[in-house]
Amino acid sequence: MDNERIVIKGGNRLDGSVSVHGAKNAVLPLLAAAILTKDDVAVENCPYISDVDAMVCLLSELGANVAREDRRICVSGGVTRTHARESLCKTMRSSMFMLGALISATGEVELPLPGGCDIGARPLDIHLDGLRKMGAVADIEGNVVRCSAARLRGADIVMRYPSVGATENLMMCASLAEGDTTLVNCAREPEIVALACGLRAMGAKIYGDGTSVMRIEGVQRLHGARMSAGGDRIAAGTVVAAAALCGGDVAIYGVNAGELHTVLQAFRSRYCDIDASDVCVRVRSQGRISARSVITAPYPLFPTDMQPQFVACQCFSDGACTVRETVFENRFGYAEELKRMGASISVGKNVAAVAGDPSAMKGTAVAAQDLRGGAGLCLAAMKAEGESVVYNPRYIDRGYESFEKLFASLGANIRRISD
Ligand code: UD1
Repeated sequence: MDNERIVIKGGNRLDGSVSVHGAKNAVLPLLAAAILTKDDVAVENCPYISDVDAMVCLLSELGANVAREDRRICVSGGVTRTHARESLCKTMRSSMFMLGALISATGEVELPLPGGCDIGARPLDIHLDGLRKMGAVADIEGNVVRCSAARLRGADIVMRYPSVGATENLMMCASLAEGDTTLVNCAREPEIVALACGLRAMGAKIYGDGTSVMRIEGVQRLHGARMSAGGDRIAAGTVVAAAALCGGDVAIYGVNAGELHTVLQAFRSRYCDIDASDVCVRVRSQGRISARSVITAPYPLFPTDMQPQFVACQCFSDGACTVRETVFENRFGYAEELKRMGASISVGKNVAAVAGDPSAMKGTAVAAQDLRGGAGLCLAAMKAEGESVVYNPRYIDRGYESFEKLFASLGANIRRISD
């Protein structure tokens, strides 16, 4: 635990408007895809978050030219190395995107197993099965993934689960493979569509992104392009949750409301009106939460990345609910910290039963253990009576840009201390 912390005094309403930053989970694979050509690739709308910093570092270490100008990151020259440094890969899960990008670009890759949030085992079998079907030799030896192929061949791949990362890796591989690839039961997340748009701008031939069957015609080479990530749906969803919980009138710009459909449904109640238009999501809340159960699942169902924020809100509800986690097997670690604030949560295998009681929730010292769990703790602290200290904000910085400034701008009593 480091000494940096976010200090929050609960009880303030949230009012005003915010624009959300570019989507972390879209920007990271777009940056990885940029090494599929030596030409210049510009990725616009990149947020200032530490996962993006780590990806920039990784690309530079692999020999790519990377330059950041405000929110645009330009990558050129391809890579000169195929081995990535362990300490860097350990800092973020998204280093696994380099698997597909590096093998396509160079025919060889040696990657230390990725790190990222400790929310489950996160194996790579779906990635490796797909790569092997495309003709690669792929193995995990000790802590390292090794993969090689002179040139990948198109294949018909049925994924046993719609893994987001595996779909993204296989899209990159199939784009430069010899022949056509069909991905069946692939992921349908908006970030898949964002990557498909980016790859198409580079000359790839991808059809069916956003559905569960994608067809990709391999091309000989990809070329330079300019691409952009949309607004971060999870950052936007986190603001929706905070506004619903704290009460107030908050307008959120820069996000596609359609991508938030199930999240908005989960927070709409007799206490909370949510209007979604093309340009803005507006939340008007009395600051009371209705008890509601949800089940996380791949898109378009309720996102696992909103699960901790949702549970944090349910601690203040007017009844009991269950939240079932079907995507990651270990994603309730933060519940122990919420209990320190007075929450009544019992965690079973993949399910949390929450008995809401607003009067029980009191500010105290808690520690973030992962990105979204950390955000959930901050939301609870913004509502709970008294002062809370949230340690380990570096987890939150992986995916939210200036988390405390965003909520302070809406009226929350929140500040960071870094002495
Ligand atoms: C991505 C997102 C993450 C989000 C998750 C699910 C990025 C950078 N991260 O993570 O924020 O929470 O999607 O929406 O985009 N699995 C296997 N074998 C594999 C691959 C995955 O069993 O080879 C399992 C995982 O352990 C997990 C589930 O599939 O239980 C979903 O994982 P996946 O969709 O791959 O998530 P990520 O791409 O890691």
